[in-house]
Amino acid sequence: MIYKYEDRLKIRGGSRLNGEITVQTSKNACLPILSASIISNGVVRIDSCPDILDVQNMIEILTELGVSVRKSDNDYILDSRSLNLNHLDFNLCKTMRSSIFLLGAILTRCDSVMLTTPGGCNIGERPIDIHLKAFKKLGVTIRQMGEYIFLNAKNAHAGKVKLKLPSVGATENIVQFASTLKGKTTIYNAAREPEVVDLCNFLSKMGAKIIGAGTKKITIYGVDRLHGTEYTPIQDRIVAGTILCAVAITGGNVRLKYSNSIQIRKLIEILSRMGCQIDVKSDIIELTSDGNLHSIAKVETGYYPDFPTDLQSIMLTLCALVHGETEIVERVFESRFLIVPELVKMGANIEVLSNRRVKVVGVDSLSGACLQAKELRGGASLVLAGLRAKGETIIDNVHFIDRGYEQIESMFTSLGADIERI
Ligand code: UD1
Repeated sequence: MIYKYEDRLKIRGGSRLNGEITVQTSKNACLPILSASIISNGVVRIDSCPDILDVQNMIEILTELGVSVRKSDNDYILDSRSLNLNHLDFNLCKTMRSSIFLLGAILTRCDSVMLTTPGGCNIGERPIDIHLKAFKKLGVTIRQMGEYIFLNAKNAHAGKVKLKLPSVGATENIVQFASTLKGKTTIYNAAREPEVVDLCNFLSKMGAKIIGAGTKKITIYGVDRLHGTEYTPIQDRIVAGTILCAVAITGGNVRLKYSNSIQIRKLIEILSRMGCQIDVKSDIIELTSDGNLHSIAKVETGYYPDFPTDLQSIMLTLCALVHGETEIVERVFESRFLIVPELVKMGANIEVLSNRRVKVVGVDSLSGACLQAKELRGGASLVLAGLRAKGETIIDNVHFIDRGYEQIESMFTSLGADIERI
């Protein structure tokens, strides 16, 4: 799919959503896995990658690095044997925060790397101090000049790394870097997100020796080299959550083909308490909603297995349309309430209490409006609001949504929504 910067979405709200849908592959699993493919000095095949902007950008960065890439449908065959490190595209790195994962991967193939500070969504400061401190602990020397970062791993060694916060990206970077670092490296306070586990499973399939993925302590025994392999990343728990919340909001019935319901158990519990009927089978989640739900007073985000920050704005939108008052607390990122003014434009009753806390008083209906997506998940939340709103909603800056959702308009039209890309 060629996504265009100027694309907009037009939604005529009011349709109930019904049907069966398969959840796309996870963006946050796929990106570090694509980056880790360069650790192998061989050929790697990654199947069923989502057709989203972030994957397209990551492939472009890898190509610039000298990786030979072949694509067959949504499967990528990557051959990193002729990596050429002089061709990092600084502009691309700036558009995507995930380019930070390349640090750990590139340093397994050469002694030094230069990168620009990464870009990404506008959801807070998003520093990279935890990544850099962890590399330093493993003997990497770091020089930062303005927006350029130079890392040299000539004297790198295995060791113990304790993360200040369980950062997903920092855990993924160090796991990649340590996979071929001689000796035993231990990460304490590691992130436990399913995408970290998926990356470790992929690295193990390439021959890495990793113990403890999915727990707070990950141990990596460095091996000489990793070999080629084939891998299919996990399905996207945030997209699964987006679809369930959309049906909860509009009313209807969905059969979601998704095999990792355990990874969204907090969301399933919350939606059940709000009044949705949910039946979980091994690879299907069936949700029925009459669109007439009630508040559960408080929702707090946190690190896995707590409620994911990436579903916070989606939940906020749902709470704007349920009976009663909800307090939403954001514990992972600061400034993640960018959609509030847009929802208020539609008639929502939301008060921002601080940069980590909002109070939402549910209203019966929202009105269609012209809205601006400002970041990925917030943009998807506006689509959900538009699906339930009376009248027509136009969403600008769809490129933010295209970073993580495969043609969001097709996803919802397949369930009966009236939405088109213009
Ligand atoms: C990843 C996900 C993102 C998700 C986030 C939290 C990808 C591509 N992105 O982002 O969708 O919202 O996890 O689940 O997988 N922090 C620092 N210093 C650092 C790094 C992080 O202070 O060096 C802070 C961040 O500001 C944030 C917290 O740690 O408050 C968690 O961030 P982190 O887990 O690193 O998020 P990402 O890996 O960037």
